[in-house]
Amino acid sequence: MTTPPAEPTGREPHEESRPASRGRRRVVLGVGGGIAAYKAALLLRLFTEDGDDVTVVPTAAALNFVGAPTWEALSGKPVSDRVWDRVEQVPHVRIGKSADLVVVAPATADLLARAAHGFADDLLTNVLLTARCPVVLAPAMHTEMWEHPATVANVATLRDRGVHVVEPASGRLTGADTGPGRLPEPEDIHAACLAILDTSRDVTPQVRSHRDSVLAGLRIVVSAGGTREPLDPVRYLGNRSSGKQGYALAAEAIARGADVTLVTSASLPDPAGAHVVRVETARELESAMSAAAQQADVVVMAAAVADFRPAEYAESKIKKTHGPGEEELDDAPVIRLVRNPDILAGLVRARRELRDRTGEATAGPMIVGFAAETGDSSGDLLHHARAKLARKGCDLLVANEVGAGVVFGQDDTTVHVLAPGGEVLLTAGPTTKAAASAAVWDAVEEAVDVRPPRAE
Ligand code: C5P
Repeated sequence: MTTPPAEPTGREPHEESRPASRGRRRVVLGVGGGIAAYKAALLLRLFTEDGDDVTVVPTAAALNFVGAPTWEALSGKPVSDRVWDRVEQVPHVRIGKSADLVVVAPATADLLARAAHGFADDLLTNVLLTARCPVVLAPAMHTEMWEHPATVANVATLRDRGVHVVEPASGRLTGADTGPGRLPEPEDIHAACLAILDTSRDVTPQVRSHRDSVLAGLRIVVSAGGTREPLDPVRYLGNRSSGKQGYALAAEAIARGADVTLVTSASLPDPAGAHVVRVETARELESAMSAAAQQADVVVMAAAVADFRPAEYAESKIKKTHGPGEEELDDAPVIRLVRNPDILAGLVRARRELRDRTGEATAGPMIVGFAAETGDSSGDLLHHARAKLARKGCDLLVANEVGAGVVFGQDDTTVHVLAPGGEVLLTAGPTTKAAASAAVWDAVEEAVDVRPPRAE
């Protein structure tokens, strides 16, 4: 590995030991030896684009996947995996001690084990031992390795010690196999790091601060995606919802320090740091939401719930012929539908009953609904949204315009947040679903009833 003689930043070595509270935020990006090492290059860019000073510390195995020149070019700094390079600068102590944040992505099973047991056999493990700043590990490995009792115990040890171990995402792994163990998307790891920095004590002035968000520490449940109502083992009734808005809401709430449960029927990558509950049908969504809502401070129903489901479920595939080798049926089958529960209205009803029973006017979560609407001859988008708000009885309603090619599956949207009286609290857009989510949480922050923390 090459180590250029001088730092391209032009900074003097002594400046490297400046206290973390002055100057740019110092981020150490550790990279473990997994195939997901290439994603760390994107994570590096997210930090440098934020103005952070990033030192990359790969393991020797990581350099087999992505070489030192890539890290050096992207970070503008020399890169080594050994404690024996530039010894006069005492890198094995200096890099960790002067960091504002150490993030390791991907953290392999081997790296988790070495970190849990306090090994100091390369530069990265030395950095982990000397760091006194928040440490975030983003594991990535095959499901079997992630679920092995040794890894489970190592993760528990690290978490007990205050290390933030991000839950890996579920999805496609290196080969054709799928399951938990995938490195979360770089954007999600970056957002989790910012959230952790926000809630840690040593926050530098440059850090985007959500520390004062009233959402920090609140339990938030968000539903996302369109439900699928099965007709037979092969077919279902569904809708065009992608789930992107619900996922963006979950990610933004996590960035504001909330404890987020995402109940989803979509198949997008898990937002880092969310507790994810997977559902398929409206009735599964209903039972997951009513269970999660019991412990929640805020519930947001962003899911597109099917209003109807097939009355009968055929245990075997509905045929179009009388049987194998026989002629086709004359008539197409008629599918009878029955109503699904209105989950949002049910959550509001359960909360009313709780309030009546306990006599506590603020018992239960704040409840936010969504209204995907189109204007028509009987009224515009807001007219229909106000009627829906009155019907559902929720605390806030987020209205957005839908139609052919608008909103569903797209990245941009326009949202209007309505208060119970029907007044528009704010409008955001056309903008990204991430920015729309920030606007929704701004409105929730204004409206949320901040209660004393509940007993566990
Ligand atoms: O009635 P409509 O589907 O337009 O209402 C939209 C809002 O109600 C959304 O928040 C959606 O998640 C919720 N909803 C529900 N249960 C249904 C239908 C919609 O919770 N069966």
